[in-house]
Amino acid sequence: MSTVNASQQINEAAQYIAEKINVMPEIGLILGSGLGVLGDYIEGATVIAYEDIPHFPVSTVEGHAGELMIGTIAGKTVVLMRGRFHMYEGYAPEVTAFPVRVMKALGVKSLIVTNAAGGINLEFASGNLMLISDHLNLTGKNPLIGANDAELGARFPDMSEAYSKRLREIAKNVASDKGIGLVEGVYAGLLGPSYETPAEIRMLRIIGADAVGMSTVAEVIAARHSGIEVVGISCISNMASGILDQPLSHVEVMETTDRVKSQFLELVTSLIVKI
Ligand code: HPA
Repeated sequence: MSTVNASQQINEAAQYIAEKINVMPEIGLILGSGLGVLGDYIEGATVIAYEDIPHFPVSTVEGHAGELMIGTIAGKTVVLMRGRFHMYEGYAPEVTAFPVRVMKALGVKSLIVTNAAGGINLEFASGNLMLISDHLNLTGKNPLIGANDAELGARFPDMSEAYSKRLREIAKNVASDKGIGLVEGVYAGLLGPSYETPAEIRMLRIIGADAVGMSTVAEVIAARHSGIEVVGISCISNMASGILDQPLSHVEVMETTDRVKSQFLELVTSLIVKI
């Protein structure tokens, strides 16, 4: 996607969506592997297949439905991505960021980004929900590479509060009010798709990571570039490679996210109320 065309493509996608809805969304949601269940709780949803939206890519991973839903949750209008685009699928980083920019064009002010992640912090356990305090972008890629479109954001966007302090406080308060366990930590974003080696996990722990996954960082960079406030929640779907004496599998990831979905739903829904 050339940067010259990017704004036009974003606007065409946003316009296509806007013509199908009555109220513009204020909150964006990106649902990770196995966490698409939240989409079932949207009221009055307009559902649009990614393939029908001009310039939208299409996702290929099991557990990612590939549709945009616009409707209300807890009285707030949201736009929800069921299924996201990963760089390991072969998408360029700016493609993974495209839907975030479309959300911005629709008027979204806050983004709730969710994912399944491997637990690196030894105090974590599979099934924990983790509030993302910050990230390490270890993908070697960045969605902002190329000529900068000043209409979209600054050439050198600040990342000192990638995950909003204000929203993190709200998330912690909501979790404690509802009695939902919520750990907090740094998310390391890697390219994937192979899971990490035990040596890589030991390295990630030393450099400050608490959890590891293959998504999120490019979307969050694009969101911050466009001035969207971000809050991130990881579901620790497994302990990372080498911690337990067992191989990692996508099946385990899906089973764990399924097991914690009611807590996840309650946390995210309550967060939406308070944002
Ligand atoms: N590593 C990377 N990505 C992941 C993992 C993991 O252990 N679990 C879920 N997504």
